[in-house]
Amino acid sequence: MTYVSESAVHNSVNKVSTALFQTAYKYGVKKAVFAMTPDKAHEATMTFGRDSGKIAPLMWLLREMIDYTDPILETNVMGVDFDNPFGLSAGLDKNCDLPTVLEAAGFGFETVGSTTARPSEGNPRPWFHRLPQYASMMVHVGLANDGSEKVIRRVEKAYTQSKTMRLSVSIARTNDNLTRDDAEGIEDYRISMERAANRSHMIEVNISCPNTRVGERFVDPTNLDKLFDVLDTVTHDQPVLVKMPQDKAWPEFRDLLDVLVEHKVDGVTIANLRKDRTGLDIPENWEGNLSGMPAGPASDDLVERTYRDYGDKLAIAGVGGVFTREQAYRKIRKGSSLVMFVSSLMYRGPQNITTLKRGLADLLRADGFNSVDEAVGIDVD
Ligand SMILES: Cc1cc2nc3c(=O)[nH]c(=O)nc-3n(C[C@H](O)[C@H](O)[C@H](O)COP(=O)(O)O)c2cc1C
Repeated sequence: MTYVSESAVHNSVNKVSTALFQTAYKYGVKKAVFAMTPDKAHEATMTFGRDSGKIAPLMWLLREMIDYTDPILETNVMGVDFDNPFGLSAGLDKNCDLPTVLEAAGFGFETVGSTTARPSEGNPRPWFHRLPQYASMMVHVGLANDGSEKVIRRVEKAYTQSKTMRLSVSIARTNDNLTRDDAEGIEDYRISMERAANRSHMIEVNISCPNTRVGERFVDPTNLDKLFDVLDTVTHDQPVLVKMPQDKAWPEFRDLLDVLVEHKVDGVTIANLRKDRTGLDIPENWEGNLSGMPAGPASDDLVERTYRDYGDKLAIAGVGGVFTREQAYRKIRKGSSLVMFVSSLMYRGPQNITTLKRGLADLLRADGFNSVDEAVGIDVD
């Protein structure tokens, strides 16, 4: 395989087409999308992504135009080989409709879900409010999805067929009016874990969805321990990540990590949506929690502290407020081996994956690194 970075012609085409995509998104697509309500825009985007993924020549063209490949970006984390460390974070592709498009665009991996044992309609609409002044979305979906039986069947298909992109599946507890006690919640996770076993490259256990009826029952050391006592019994050969909450003081966050390192957990995804609205002008009647730029600082801080104290035991996937190459690089230098995003895809467009990959490769080379791995945690004493 010839890397785009090593082919003068392909590299130039890639630069020009990325710039064209950027302009078309900023002045065309985004304007049209932002003219719709966020809930409508979400549906339209998903339909477009799903339908265009079925047009093979279009996917070939997309890959030829914007997929940037470079050996410096290749990395191995938790035993999984990645073409690059960038992934789509959970929440956009809940039902596994986008793997073809995301792979053609050059994502290193995607996180499908979160999906739950029972299908769920999630919370009443609206699910979203845009906050462009903060480069953020208020999210109140509440884990709507087709149920893990169907979703993981699709994940397995994508996992089997994908050539370059890795598949992670995020599992969570069903958010509906059939939820009962914690034992029922644990069984809900266990069912999805069984379904996910050996049918994806990674599993992410989402304990921190802030938008559900029962609340975050497993963001508590005792309950978390009970949950993983059961999940540990499910036989599988994929690495397991845990999606961590964002609004926790370090001592409480550390208590959760102390539990996780005693179980079959290989990494942590830091972090979920931000709940704290301090300093932000948001209508009080808007339900939901914050993605994007406001989710960045606390995530960076928790990544750094986790790497300092648990870097030898847990791999870190950093997520929250990654829009630019500098923000991605900072997450890596603070200890993230993988970097994920959702909001910048919506605000900047699909070519942002290319901008981030090329930008990261440039920053790594400028600092004399030969790989992503060499830069992981470099800023942490
Ligand atoms: C539309 C939307 C839906 C989300 N749904 C989920 C979800 O189902 N499971 C989950 O673990 N995180 C979910 N998240 C949180 C994201 O995975 C991510 O942690 C958060 O948005 C911060 O990343 P960002 O700043 O790149 O958006 C969702 C985020 C958005 C924007």
